[in-house]
Amino acid sequence: MRVLHLIAIALLLGAAVAVAQTPDLARRQAEAAAALADRQEEETVLTEGEGRSEVFGYCTACHNTALIRRSAFTRDRWDELMDWMAEKHGMNPLEGEFRQTIVDYLAKHYGPRARSPRGGNPFLN
Ligand code: HEC
Repeated sequence: MRVLHLIAIALLLGAAVAVAQTPDLARRQAEAAAALADRQEEETVLTEGEGRSEVFGYCTACHNTALIRRSAFTRDRWDELMDWMAEKHGMNPLEGEFRQTIVDYLAKHYGPRARSPRGGNPFLN
């Protein structure tokens, strides 16, 4: 009987601690959500390399870099994408050396990835 009492008391204490922590948890979650919502992207989210600031400056006018970072395209595919973005989404067409710089950067740093034998981690792609 004594043991049962002790267990009951322990459970009650546990519940009391959980209740006491709830507002704190809710506050912390709200803070974390707010931090995520107004987090501004910095150029450094993109891989360092020649052309990074051009890409960051030009490509984040309409969307953030997540679309770029999750992509792994060949140079041809990136090149086509530049036309697609201009034709379908109203991006100012990219031409000449500036286009070269941007496509070179994208192909070099966001090209097709070699798959690891175990398939890689989908959350890191
Ligand atoms: C004028 C606006 C605009 C600009 C500037 C722009 N994009 Fe986009 N981009 C879009 C829109 C709109 C989409 C479609 C978004 C969607 O599907 O939700 C898109 C989609 C994408 C995608 C996803 C394509 C896919 O099929 O998965 C990539 C990658 C991308 N953009 C890269 C770039 C790069 C690199 C640049 C800079 C050279 C750039 N974007 C500049 C408007 C733009």
